[in-house]
Amino acid sequence: MNIVFLSASGQLGGAETSLLDILASVRQAQPGWKLGLISCEDGPLLRRANGLGVETRALPFPQTIACLGDSAGVGRLKLLFGMLRGSAAGILYVRRLRRVLRDMAPQLIHSNGFKTHVLSVWAGPRKIPVIWHVHDYVRPRFIMARLLRAHVCRCAAMIANSHSVAGELRGIFPRGIKIHPVYNGVDLQRFSPVGPRLDLDALSGLPLAANGIVRVGLVATFARWKGHGVFLHALALLPAGLPIRAYVIGGPIYQTDDSQLQIDELRGLARELGISDKVGFTGFVEEPAAAMRALDIVVHASTQPEPFGLVITEAMACGRAVIASQAGGAAELIAPGKNALAHLPGDAGELARCISELVLSPRQRAALGVAGQESARTRFDRGDLARQLIPIYREAAAAAQ
Ligand code: GLC
Repeated sequence: MNIVFLSASGQLGGAETSLLDILASVRQAQPGWKLGLISCEDGPLLRRANGLGVETRALPFPQTIACLGDSAGVGRLKLLFGMLRGSAAGILYVRRLRRVLRDMAPQLIHSNGFKTHVLSVWAGPRKIPVIWHVHDYVRPRFIMARLLRAHVCRCAAMIANSHSVAGELRGIFPRGIKIHPVYNGVDLQRFSPVGPRLDLDALSGLPLAANGIVRVGLVATFARWKGHGVFLHALALLPAGLPIRAYVIGGPIYQTDDSQLQIDELRGLARELGISDKVGFTGFVEEPAAAMRALDIVVHASTQPEPFGLVITEAMACGRAVIASQAGGAAELIAPGKNALAHLPGDAGELARCISELVLSPRQRAALGVAGQESARTRFDRGDLARQLIPIYREAAAAAQ
């Protein structure tokens, strides 16, 4: 089998990390298969895929297309104008992609993001089956939802990263479309309790924290709905004197500027809330496992239902105590009180209560860490991905014969 994967981003956000895990798992299960990756942006994704023996090509989007995004909060009018501006460049881009795809001659295309779902139909050779791997809810994306509906007749199957996302897709697309929920996998070698730890204080430019301090961090991309504001508000509600230092770990890595926060906005909010001395901002970190190992508590605080929440499973695999926002696919990953604590999206008060409970109880942190690791090992081992995906690939390829 020869499969070409398409990624809109070359950075390592959740969807791209998940793609690397798929490549690693399929490569190991089927060493004879040819795997290729075309990314619409150069970046660490290509280098990492290359290291797995995948043939990689960067085909950068023109800037007018790269910065388009229609996640919630972005003005629709602005987006429409952007699309119009992008259209001439868009046509040329589709032609180039078509040529590269012809050259790589796949038997199957696996597209990993909304933009590439549409592109896979525009540029994919007619008889080659296309699989859309859906990592985010479609409904909040006004224009993309319509574009996908218009092109879905060319989609052989969809993979959804949770039952919650699969359920949404079933309500949007015609009944005949095959929709397979497949949870993301975690590389349990990299995400384990043992290994190097980042010096989060040095990275954030803070003095070394005193012994006995409990480190709490939000690890997330800078999408506006990831709940950085809720995290900072929760920190401001904590009782004075709690031995805690907090970190915001991550940075704006995508090219869709309007839908992302900037670190200065968050520093400003921390100042307003009077917590600047309690919280450090590390910026983007290459090795999230080493950042998580340096934390005692990993917080997930998305304000909208989280489609999956890779960071939750990665933190569990590292044996950290996790506090998650319980909605969407993320709610499928946790058993509150057993392998994580939970708060409702946007509820800073409840999040603050969960944080102080865990700061004061090393025993509970340890118990959650042990149970989380067990969940990661039994439910989210990336080795299982190939077992689930290969039959989906085979079925799509056979149906196209
Ligand atoms: C997207 C989703 C996130 C998920 C990741 C990997 O980034 O928003 O919830 O963890 O994809 O599937």
